[in-house]
Amino acid sequence: MRDLVEPVATGMDHVLSSIGIDNLDPRSIIGDATDKSHGDLAVPFHRFSGVLKRSPVDIADEAAEILAPHLVGIANVSSKAGYVNFRASSGWVSSRLVDICRHPTLGVEKASQRTVVVDYSSPNIAKEMHVGHLRSTVIGDSLARIFEAKGNRVIRENHVGDWGTPFGMLIERLEDLDSDGIDPVEALSDLGEFYRECRIKFDEDENFRQRARERVVSLQAGDGPTLQRWSQLVDISMGHFQEVYELLGVLLTRDDVMGESKYDPLLPGLVEQLHEKGILETNNGALVIYPGDWVNRDGDPLPLIIRKSDGGYNYATTDLACISDRTQRLNADDLIYVVGAEQKQHFEMVFASARKGGLMGDRHTATHVSFGLVLGPDGGKLKSRSGEAIRLLDLLNEAIERASVAVLERNPDISKEDLRILARSIGIGAVKYSDLKSDRTKDYIFDWDKMLSFEGETGPYIQYAHARINSILNKERHSQGGTEFTSFELASEHEMKLAREVLKYPEAVDHALADLAPSRICKHLHKMSQAFGSFYENCPVLTENKEIRDQRIELCRITGRILEHGLNLLGMDAPSRM
Ligand code: ARG
Repeated sequence: MRDLVEPVATGMDHVLSSIGIDNLDPRSIIGDATDKSHGDLAVPFHRFSGVLKRSPVDIADEAAEILAPHLVGIANVSSKAGYVNFRASSGWVSSRLVDICRHPTLGVEKASQRTVVVDYSSPNIAKEMHVGHLRSTVIGDSLARIFEAKGNRVIRENHVGDWGTPFGMLIERLEDLDSDGIDPVEALSDLGEFYRECRIKFDEDENFRQRARERVVSLQAGDGPTLQRWSQLVDISMGHFQEVYELLGVLLTRDDVMGESKYDPLLPGLVEQLHEKGILETNNGALVIYPGDWVNRDGDPLPLIIRKSDGGYNYATTDLACISDRTQRLNADDLIYVVGAEQKQHFEMVFASARKGGLMGDRHTATHVSFGLVLGPDGGKLKSRSGEAIRLLDLLNEAIERASVAVLERNPDISKEDLRILARSIGIGAVKYSDLKSDRTKDYIFDWDKMLSFEGETGPYIQYAHARINSILNKERHSQGGTEFTSFELASEHEMKLAREVLKYPEAVDHALADLAPSRICKHLHKMSQAFGSFYENCPVLTENKEIRDQRIELCRITGRILEHGLNLLGMDAPSRM
């Protein structure tokens, strides 16, 4: 309950000077009450016990007495076991509720105006997208939305792997298939299969291997027909990726693609720049940077290889050029990389090298938003029924299919078109929510039944709360709004509880941003949906008493608006009926 902190801090100033404690900002000791039945905020007094030679209970009792008159009409003050607890009063909650209802973005202030590049999804061309890319896509998309909602200028970048040595064999293979009369679109219809075949051929056929190597050289030299083949590969693959993005309903478009190839022309200049900075060293013919304290298995300093002895560049070199492009050309302040945990060291070393090389200055931040694995029900790698790695598109279609069964069960008379739309919203929402709600740094288990359940901490549960509110508002004639409330009579504890969750929404969004964790919003929406559930059960909305009815309708409306806003920040649909 953030807005309560200031009035409490003012009261605490009086307490501290009265008990004889100087030079302490009371804000540093005001926290959320751990036991919500005691209050919204709490201050512990145990730490003063030693200096003051008094028991914490005694000090807290005195503090509560001093505080109470300062917080009349704002919070009820009580003391227990050395803590002073503050419970927002219903008048205060009511007036804050009015503010939120009137606020165009529900209390979420556009407080920050930084330029933020969010690097997410970033699959590899001519390879199947895997569940790691699903996580990056879903988390990155949500973060981009949250940054935007807080007022920042957001640039989405899809750093696709579209350059490097594998393209020699991929292009050669496409050439071969083409001369066999196989249409490239057909050949690339199954990216996983195509890549596997290339690999086998490359490993087994010396002649093919040689051609692939020569092809890389032509590609690097900008040979016309080679480039044409290359862009065909990129184009067809991007078409597959875009299909996944559309199904997922993420914001990424073709315009957001900034693949590795875009940075290739910048690499010689980058090396020159790093050389001038004096941070390049030679190591067995390669140019390297020693960015810091990283060591290899033998305990020797670990270099970041900038240019290999054969003159070729690395993934890391591209990322350095990319940083320079983002801070210079895009004038970005903050660089966000939503990439799996296995690239932790890569990013640490790249960021450290970029600072050393002057590609990032003090005003820039670079953050690796890392995430864990998606596991199957047995705790192993997530696999399809036939035991292979799961294709993302198949996974999403299965989610929609399963949601479709659930929807039909609830609405046997639904039209085909409505079913299609609703099943997509629910199926995709379920997958996204189950991904976003978990602590992103940990692995999580992919569980169809859990994620699609209408009960528990799931996407459907929250979407359903929103749909239910919508149907209440539809039943109510005055649902178009109109009544301006200047105060709410929050007589029931269930109304109060719901109102409190409503007030805490802007805080949840800020926490999500501070921790780069959409899960903070997931958790909040879930709690708010639960509070709505008990409110709805215990406080009849469409009652005879017009005054009560209007206020409860308003409480439903603001809850529904916040659910919709929050679902949108998670990249989920908010269907109006379910
Ligand atoms: N293409 C890479 C992969 O699939 C991810 C790229 C992440 N972004 C970056 N700037 N390195 O692993």
